Amino acid sequence: MYNVTDIKVGFLGFGNMGQAIADGLLYTKTLQPDQIYACGGSYGRLKNNAEVRGIHACYDAKEVVEASDVLVIAVKPGMVEPVLSPLGALLKEKMILSVVANYLFEDYEKILPEGCHHLSTIPNTPVSVGEGITICEKKHSLTEEGYRIIMELLSGIGLAVEVDGDQVNIASTISGCAPAFASMFTEALADAGVMYGLPRKMAYQLAGQMITGTGKLMTESGKHPGEMKDNVCSPGGTTIVGVAALEKCGMRAAVIEAVEAVMDKYGIN
Ligand SMILES: NC(=O)c1ccc[n+]([C@@H]2O[C@H](COP(=O)([O-])OP(=O)(O)OC[C@H]3O[C@@H](n4cnc5c(N)ncnc54)[C@H](OP(=O)(O)O)[C@@H]3O)[C@@H](O)[C@H]2O)c1
Repeated sequence: MYNVTDIKVGFLGFGNMGQAIADGLLYTKTLQPDQIYACGGSYGRLKNNAEVRGIHACYDAKEVVEASDVLVIAVKPGMVEPVLSPLGALLKEKMILSVVANYLFEDYEKILPEGCHHLSTIPNTPVSVGEGITICEKKHSLTEEGYRIIMELLSGIGLAVEVDGDQVNIASTISGCAPAFASMFTEALADAGVMYGLPRKMAYQLAGQMITGTGKLMTESGKHPGEMKDNVCSPGGTTIVGVAALEKCGMRAAVIEAVEAVMDKYGIN
């Protein structure tokens, strides 16, 4: 019987996403550093990134697999097959958690040995502070216990949401690409604050906390976003003038077009 308090989690690939997940697991105290193992392409780079977190740096993927119960596949898509193929039957008893874009259940069925237990997901970078979203494909081959353990890990670093395979791209566009869109909005707000005399640092602090608080208010109160907008627009007041200006500039259309552009890139229309 596995337990999150003594489970070993190994990262195959420890770049931006591997580090974001490990940081989230440590930040939220879901795991302790000595429960985490990792390997990368360059041992030198990996060793530095492991040392600052107090986790185990491994020389290669085989060492990670031998030490771990859960394997997080966090290499670039083109490296999945070269990294996994030599591991063969060693993968069979492991709980495999993929975070690789465009690698869904059926893709893994083609490259993993028969009978492996795996789940495909797409996390976003806020997992590093325990406020992430991980989009999980509904179809998986984890055991009931494996699924429970993986969900416990993912829930520790944010919200884990199950979707059908054909919704993974749109769901991960909203959760994974939109942090860039939201950052652009935040930066623009801060620029406007600076234009009217706020110190830059304070402008970012206000804009960032406004995003955090607005998101939390919406998810915790269950309020419709339109109602939240209405609640700050008093008749003849100041906010409604800003709302009207955003409408005039086509803000909603711009956001929908941004998502459409991403879906086009996936070849989905
Ligand atoms: N970044 C995101 O926001 C994001 C979001 C969702 C999903 N993802 C997915 O996460 C995966 C990783 O993306 P990333 O942004 O973290 O890329 P990255 O920063 O380039 O990290 C890739 C990692 O793979 C390592 N690697 C290369 N060859 C290896 C090998 N033979 N054995 C073991 N490790 C090896 C690299 O090590 P070296 O640096 O030493 O070469 C590096 O640690 C991708 O599949 C991506 O689709 C990323």
